[in-house]
Amino acid sequence: MSHFQITGGVPLRGEVRCSGSKNAALPIMAASILASEPVRLEGTPRLADVRTQTRLLKHLGVNVSQVEEGMIFETVDPAPIRAPQRLVRRMRAGFCVLGPLLARRGKAVVPLPGGCNIGHRPVDLHLKGLAALGADLRLQHGYVVATARRLTGTTIDLSGPNGPTVTGTANVLSAAVLARGVTIIRNAAVEPEIVDLERFLAALGARIEGVGTSTLRIEGVEQLGGATHRLIPDRIEAATLLIAAAVTGGSATVAGVVPAHLDAVLEKLRQAGAAIEVGVECISISAGRRLRAVDVAARPYPGFPTDLQAQWTALAAVADGASRVEDRVFPGRFMHVAELNRLGAKITCGNGAAMVGGVRRLSGARVAAHDLRAGAALLLAGLAAEGRTTVDRIHHIDRGYQRLDDKLQQLGARIERVENQPWNSTIPKPVAASFSEASRLASGHASRMASSR
Ligand code: EPZ
Repeated sequence: MSHFQITGGVPLRGEVRCSGSKNAALPIMAASILASEPVRLEGTPRLADVRTQTRLLKHLGVNVSQVEEGMIFETVDPAPIRAPQRLVRRMRAGFCVLGPLLARRGKAVVPLPGGCNIGHRPVDLHLKGLAALGADLRLQHGYVVATARRLTGTTIDLSGPNGPTVTGTANVLSAAVLARGVTIIRNAAVEPEIVDLERFLAALGARIEGVGTSTLRIEGVEQLGGATHRLIPDRIEAATLLIAAAVTGGSATVAGVVPAHLDAVLEKLRQAGAAIEVGVECISISAGRRLRAVDVAARPYPGFPTDLQAQWTALAAVADGASRVEDRVFPGRFMHVAELNRLGAKITCGNGAAMVGGVRRLSGARVAAHDLRAGAALLLAGLAAEGRTTVDRIHHIDRGYQRLDDKLQQLGARIERVENQPWNSTIPKPVAASFSEASRLASGHASRMASSR
């Protein structure tokens, strides 16, 4: 098991460039199945989930080749319609091939998805949308078996209990572009990654009105051509790097970004006392002193992103004062709390929120990542902690970041990647196997800390 060794207490300084968006790449790669001509994607990030999606597409008859700064996808017909369980279980975005396969080939057999353990992650809205388009859907041995000779346009509402669904919008939109007639999608996700997908599909020849809004009108076409498309930058990686500078009391510039994608995050950083400067494609932050505690509630875009909630909690852990970090998208997304408390944080959680008592200093410890963003949060906390921190199970981090350690080293972080240590008993298995266990552990730890004062 590989791990990061971090020596904390070094204020980060300098400039770093962020990579292309993972969460734009994954649905757009899946949608390449719809194209009858070659597709060239530029700016694709080199990270584990993109490699997994590539293997899945190759299995589904898409020729994928790496080129300078990107990838080329060419769909061959006829091709398999069954996505292997081992790939889709590993990565939820594999489920995004369902809509394109169904629309292009009239049939799809896709396993129910796996993915991060960040809470309840149903796919009922995906299936509701595809059924509304006329698909026959059956669940057989853990696979969704979808058939439809030709999908037919209709009106679909994709709102769910916690807001719109990002990949659900991707699946239904990708099916509607080849449906007969007009489809109206209400309460579509408006995340920049979905807008990037809409722009990609339009470049293929899809007819979509309302790009960037929550109401999409799609006029189905017989077939789609090819296109060259440059992915948007990864706003979550960019914000993770900004918070890394903030949590270490440093100053840094993140280049190659779309600042407008981070308005809600920049607003919170300013409220916390960080100095922020915004350029055309870059954001500079300076956090010379300890930041103020600021309450945050993660919600669908353009709100504060849930994919940044764990990283913000790490920043709140050393802020001046107490704050509340709520997640209205994934109320159970607090697996990072027990591990942050190992580093000396004072956090309790429950009812979809973490109550964070800011401490002056964290102290280095051995911790383990449970999921992608929780792992990033532990890395940030280790940069702020006194002494040495080891972050285990970093394959979670490598799923969603292109060499985050290299980027942090460019900013002066003392972080070393230690590859393939033989698994041994000294490396702790994840502390909490579930959210309820995590919150019990977190509150237990906090009360022990309180009583020991
Ligand atoms: C996407 O996941 C992202 N993943 C997630 O990023 C991100 O956290 C999430 O959107 C929210 O922004 C990719 O884009 C690959 P949802 P997705 O469907 O699409 C409920 C990361 O760290 N819901 O928008 O799976 C669901 O339970 C990852 O990069 C239903 O009720 O999320 C949740 O509460 C983690 N029924 C809310 O909607 C459904 O059919 C949002 O989920 C689907 C979702």
